[in-house]
Amino acid sequence: MTHCIREKRKLLSSKTVQTVQESLFPSPGFRNIIIVFKIVSRSAYYFFYAKTLINRKGGRRMRLSSKDLLGLADMGSDEITLILDTAKDMKKIVTSSMKRVNYLQGKSVVTLFYENSTRTRVSFELAAKYMGAHAVNVSVSTSSVAKGETLIDTGKTLEAMGTDIIIIRHSQSGAPHFLAKNVKSSVINAGDGMHEHPTQALLDMMTMREVFGTLEGLKVAIIGDISHSRVARSNIIGLTKMGAQVNLYAPATLMPPFIEKTGARICPTIEDAVAGCDVIMGLRLQLERQKNALFPSTCEYSKFFGLNPENIKGAGKNVLFMHPGPVNRGVEMTSSIIDADNSYINKQVTNGVAVRMAILYLLTGRETV
Ligand code: CP
Repeated sequence: MTHCIREKRKLLSSKTVQTVQESLFPSPGFRNIIIVFKIVSRSAYYFFYAKTLINRKGGRRMRLSSKDLLGLADMGSDEITLILDTAKDMKKIVTSSMKRVNYLQGKSVVTLFYENSTRTRVSFELAAKYMGAHAVNVSVSTSSVAKGETLIDTGKTLEAMGTDIIIIRHSQSGAPHFLAKNVKSSVINAGDGMHEHPTQALLDMMTMREVFGTLEGLKVAIIGDISHSRVARSNIIGLTKMGAQVNLYAPATLMPPFIEKTGARICPTIEDAVAGCDVIMGLRLQLERQKNALFPSTCEYSKFFGLNPENIKGAGKNVLFMHPGPVNRGVEMTSSIIDADNSYINKQVTNGVAVRMAILYLLTGRETV
């Protein structure tokens, strides 16, 4: 009886669809033409447009040399350039109305974040989905991590389910490296303690290169909590490798020792740091990583170390304002800078999706689209 009702319902619903189709396109010939047109246009998109979007050498796709992306310290300028070139192509997909290619079809990507995130986690998830991967987020607070599961056991559990790429953010420096040694899946560092945030630096470099065409010879001022900033560390490493000059300014208590060994220049004043610069990058004040009181108050910090229209007057005429986000408005920068026409903060976020698509693709994409 139930079976009979189910069959009747099926028949009715298929009849309804058929009636709607017939009323829209009365001629069966016209309906067939529409179907053929849909198939042809979709195939043409994949074979003539999507296929040519991506940078290939001699018709062959390129890959990164390692199975993982853990930091810019391990990477040469040729690999950084490969990621930035590929991201430029990927941006065409991010800004198109289609936002769909199948470079990662059949792959599984998991985001495993032990710290909060909006930009990095969402952009990785979108990047994976735009390329046709299965993307899953592990909410650490409601996962078995809260029952005491170790990082390796969590990683091996995800791998046992067929995960190809694990994207990890962790409060402990070196956690992604430790995981990468213990799983066969590719591991991407989405920020580890005060160590590195390589994908952020790559999207920052992409944003600068888009405007200036090259990173070679650029003058970049990084201002703020340099000691606790993994973004600053990855940017200093990446930018100096690519031939940019990096100026640093921070309270003495927030400037890491020996940082000048990287080739960056420590400046005595904010005015000196930004003088003639092409890019000014503010950093978030990382109060969650500061164990002791390293400056008297947030108010005093913003007065003496925050960027405002007055103390940046000596910067280049077409200077870009950048910040990795999230921004503490009025602390690291005034709202007039955050919302200025030459503020690239939201463009950085868009480029974040393109850079992360490039990384996922170069680590484990399909040979053909
Ligand atoms: N820049 C950055 O890492 O932002 P989220 O913390 O929102 O990911």
